[in-house]
This record gives sequence, C-alpha cells and structure tokens, in this order.
Amino acid sequence: MRTYDNILDLIGHTPLLKLRTGIPPDGPRAYVKLEFFNPTGSVKDRMTLHIIKKAMAEGRLKAGDTVIDNTSGNTGSALAMVAKLMGLKAILTTPEKTSKEKIDLIKSYGAELIITPEVPHDDPRSFYAVARRLAKEKGYFDLDQYDSQDNVESHYLSTGPEIWEDTDGQITHFVCGIGTGGTFSGAARFLKEKNHKIKAIAVDPEGSMFTDYIRYRKETAGHPYKVEGIGSDVMTGAMHPDVVDEIITVSDKDSFHRARLIAREEGISAGGSSGTVAYAMEQAARDLGPESLMVGIFADSGIKYLSKCYSDDWMRRQGFMPQEEVAR
Ligand SMILES: Cc1ncc(COP(=O)(O)O)c(C=O)c1O
Repeated sequence: MRTYDNILDLIGHTPLLKLRTGIPPDGPRAYVKLEFFNPTGSVKDRMTLHIIKKAMAEGRLKAGDTVIDNTSGNTGSALAMVAKLMGLKAILTTPEKTSKEKIDLIKSYGAELIITPEVPHDDPRSFYAVARRLAKEKGYFDLDQYDSQDNVESHYLSTGPEIWEDTDGQITHFVCGIGTGGTFSGAARFLKEKNHKIKAIAVDPEGSMFTDYIRYRKETAGHPYKVEGIGSDVMTGAMHPDVVDEIITVSDKDSFHRARLIAREEGISAGGSSGTVAYAMEQAARDLGPESLMVGIFADSGIKYLSKCYSDDWMRRQGFMPQEEVAR
C-alpha cells in the first residue's frame, strides 16, 4: 500500500513540468515547478509548516497558542490548515484585493480572517500593521513571513534541493517571483552553493519597489498593481539581494494574459503570478540555447483566481481586455 497518515506529509516534492508557451523550439529546456500540488494549493505550505514545526520544537510555540500573520491569501490557507492540525488557533489579515476564492479557502479551514483596506504597509490600517499590532498586544505568535529567516530556510531545505535533484544538477537558470522573497532567496542560495554558475532571476510586478531596490539600492515609492502574491512596497528581510543575478519586471496585463494562454494551450491552470514568471521566462529564454535548463516556480493554482484574471468580465473592468473582445 502507498498511503499517508497526515496531509502535512504531502507538502513539497512537487513536479517539474515542461513549459512550451513562449519558449522557442531551439531555445533552452524550460520547466515549471507546480506548487499548486501542495495540499492548500500553493508554495506557502512549505514555509508555514517549517516555521511552525521549528517554533514548536524549540518551545517558542505550544498547542493551544494563537498564531497570526498577514497574507495575500496563500499563507492564510496554509497557516489555517497547518495550525488546525498542530492544535493551534490561526488569525490572518488580508487586503481587500485578495480574491474571493482565497478568502473562502482560508475560512473553510476554520481560521479567523480580518480584511483590511488597500493602503501602504506603514499605514496602521494595513494588513501588515494590523497583524504586527495584534501579535504585540495579545501576545500571539507572529509567523512574520516577510522578515522570517525560517521562511528562507524552508526553501533552502526543500524547494532548492528538489530542483537540484529533479534536474540531475543540470539547472542553469532559476526564475522565481518575489513576494516575501523567501522562495527565491532560499532556493537560489541552495542552487548557487551547488553550482555558482547558476543564474538566479527574480521576477517582480510593475509597481513593486523590489526592482529599483535590487538594481540601484533605492527605496522608491511604487504604485498599486493587481497581480497577487508578488511584489512589495517595502524591502523585506526574507529577500536577499545578494543572490539576485537579474530582475525582470512584468506588467499586470502581460501576467494575466500569459496565465490565461498557458491554461488554454497547455492545460496548466496556474495563478496570475505564474503568468508573471512564465512571461519573464520568455524574456530570459531569448538569449539561451538548448544547453541551458531553466526552472520557473508556479506558486499557485488558477482555481484561486476564477473570479479574477480567468474572468472575462473582470479583465474588461480592469482594462486588460477590450470591451468587445470575447475570449474563448
Ligand atoms: C501567488 C504567489 N506567488 C508568489 C509568491 C511569492 O513567494 P514568496 O513570498 O516566497 O516570495 C506568493 C507569496 O505570497 C504568492 O502568494
């Protein structure tokens, strides 16, 4: 029999699948790591389990305690699920732009959810500030994914080694969106330690501050954007600029159209930020031949965005599709 006792045992070991869209036939070998195979449908299951397990093992957290964090949705469902199974209570804060599907998923695991206005990080009403304040005032355990080095460590210990092993060490280019930066920083550091020639390419939405920070070490004010889960308006502790070789910036429109195209052409239903990564992979692939092997991270599932970038109505309302266009 091949059976499992606990859904937590199913976190990680996600598959690498060939990506064709945007990759020329004489270009690099390109694969995407499908993180929607994790139990709550995103890459966030990995770091949530790692942070909670480590804190419990070190006695910083015990059954019955309350854990809090701010989330663009995916950490919320991961924390809600992991907390329940570890005997903890979970409270999440999330901004208004978070998709209904992700909000409902968090609630379905029994967590408490606080929806906050779409304001900058340092505004006391922001999803970030509310989580920090409640943690301090009530003594909750703060998962603090944006600054947690255990977030980075979880990808150094799982995502990076899986990519290395599944490509038999042949990977030459790693392409990954940056939200907290944990996935990128942890996996890229592991891969570069294995082979210092591997190029780590970070992917950022237009409007996020990471691009200017990484290129010029300048903290410029960004502007709001629609893609969920990646980009930031402040530098994060989980983002390690020293492991970045290149950063590619992608617009909302290109991200969403690419995600939709990949679903139709290749049957891979992934989230908007996976469209961002796939679009960046096309840019990066231009100068590369078949001797190169590129791996991109698809952080979550398109099923979480049926009311957003997979809805023609929503795309038109945002101005990403002309009014008269009917997408099949
Ligand atoms: C949809 C999506 N893509 C990408 C990421 C980026 O992952 P990380 O926070 O490890 O940088 C996240 C994180 O929230 C996400 O939710």
